[in-house]
Amino acid sequence: MRSRRRTGCAIALFVGATLLIVGCRPARAPTSPQAETGPGPIPQAGPLAAPKSLAQVGVPLAATAAAVPADNRQTPDKIALGEKLFFDGRLSQDGTVACSTCHDPAKGFADGRPVSIGIKGRHGQRNAPTVLNALYNQFQFWDGRATTLEDQAVLPIQNPSEMGQPDLNAAVAAIGKIPEYQQAFQKVFGRPPNGADLGRALASYERTQVSFAAPFDSFMAGDKTAINDSAKRGWSLFNGKARCNLCHALTATKQDPTFFMDHQFHNIGVGIVRHNVVALACKAQASLNSGNTIAVDQAAISSDLSVLGRFLVSKQQADIAAFKTPGLRNVLVTAPYFHDGSMNTLWDVMDHYNKGAGLADPWLDQDIQPLGLSETEIDDVIAFMASLTSAPYRAAGEAALARQREIARTSRTQRNTARAFAPKVTQPNPTLVCVPAH
Ligand code: HEC
Ligand code: HEC
Repeated sequence: MRSRRRTGCAIALFVGATLLIVGCRPARAPTSPQAETGPGPIPQAGPLAAPKSLAQVGVPLAATAAAVPADNRQTPDKIALGEKLFFDGRLSQDGTVACSTCHDPAKGFADGRPVSIGIKGRHGQRNAPTVLNALYNQFQFWDGRATTLEDQAVLPIQNPSEMGQPDLNAAVAAIGKIPEYQQAFQKVFGRPPNGADLGRALASYERTQVSFAAPFDSFMAGDKTAINDSAKRGWSLFNGKARCNLCHALTATKQDPTFFMDHQFHNIGVGIVRHNVVALACKAQASLNSGNTIAVDQAAISSDLSVLGRFLVSKQQADIAAFKTPGLRNVLVTAPYFHDGSMNTLWDVMDHYNKGAGLADPWLDQDIQPLGLSETEIDDVIAFMASLTSAPYRAAGEAALARQREIARTSRTQRNTARAFAPKVTQPNPTLVCVPAH
């Protein structure tokens, strides 16, 4: 196993140390301003919401079977119940927000917003990842605070900035009043609705969202005309000069045409300079119980500690502002990008990597460095990512690519060509020193 991060070290607490001041600077207001004030109407299940066929080209059949846990087998009735719940606002405290509000099948099971909007127009701190292929994740959430889809599903229901129920029992009580659900739970699980079964049904539906059948899959299956020359060059760059495979592949030694993720966490320099992470890390160290999943969930979605990423879960210094490597399938239709939705286009993402962003960040992953990619090479890597769009999203993907290209024509906020072609600078030493507040 490669080691990409510095080994974790415990945080030293020095009384009276002078260097780093803790906790007192006001944190930045929530991420970029969004014009919308409410979560909008609940997206309904359409053809894109239907369980997917396993006959798509590229589906990893063994991994798909392995993703189903022994205590939550797939049955048609359970999947149907999960689908109904996924689109049902009655799971939320005021009836206005469903899972589909933030995971809309028409938007690649994301929401197209920088950060999500829950009940009463409450903005969270994080960008909604897609549910497509989430069954293959070894960790759920950007910081991996849940491992299974079952454990993940019950958290947004109780998060004050998302579906806002005071606790899981309140959601169960709301659903349990409805005769249709009473009958469905009885039929599927042989008992009245309860929190664990609610999570099981939702997870079961999510496991049907297997999304392959992209032009790249046809290419890998032998159709050499399925993707254009630019995308082919992009795939080579991805595994070579652009260094993407160091994280977006299961191993660095073998090309991975399936998942495009390593199930690990890295600090790649997103947004770090905007935040006083040392002060925040010290605050989390002192005030957050990482063993309390509800507390971590609220910190991640609703507090300024959100920027600490995996550190919220592990309290390891090496995990400061480290986030999970996301898979890249259907990435074209799930803009904006990164855990905070801070980048609008794949050109911004490429400019970010090209300059080896985050040079002043002591916790930056060692695999991040200036890449020296030309404009043509950037376009090629983007063409490759565009070839990862699954068949049902083909038209949406083409529209998104045209829109992003148009934005990028006049706005390349992350571009720094001089730095992209300059050598890597020495990073500051990663030491976290917390002074107890007086
Ligand atoms: C208000 C918006 C909102 C609602 C409602 C919502 N989610 Fe999410 N979802 C998010 C955001 C934002 C994240 C990422 C949060 C994080 O990583 O801290 C997320 C993460 C996830 C993930 C993890 C995916 C990954 O790649 O890590 C899954 C799965 C998921 N949600 C499913 C659901 C289900 C099931 C429901 C309904 C019970 C739901 N969500 C309700 C916004 C929402
Ligand atoms: C050191 C590990 C690492 C390397 C190298 C790397 N990535 Fe990433 N990638 C990540 C992590 C971690 C994230 C999430 C970071 C965040 O949101 O803060 C990410 C996010 C992304 C996203 C945003 C996806 C989304 O849904 O928001 C895209 C696109 C992406 N990477 C493409 C690439 C490409 C293309 C390359 C090569 C030029 C590359 N990555 C190199 C680890 C890496």
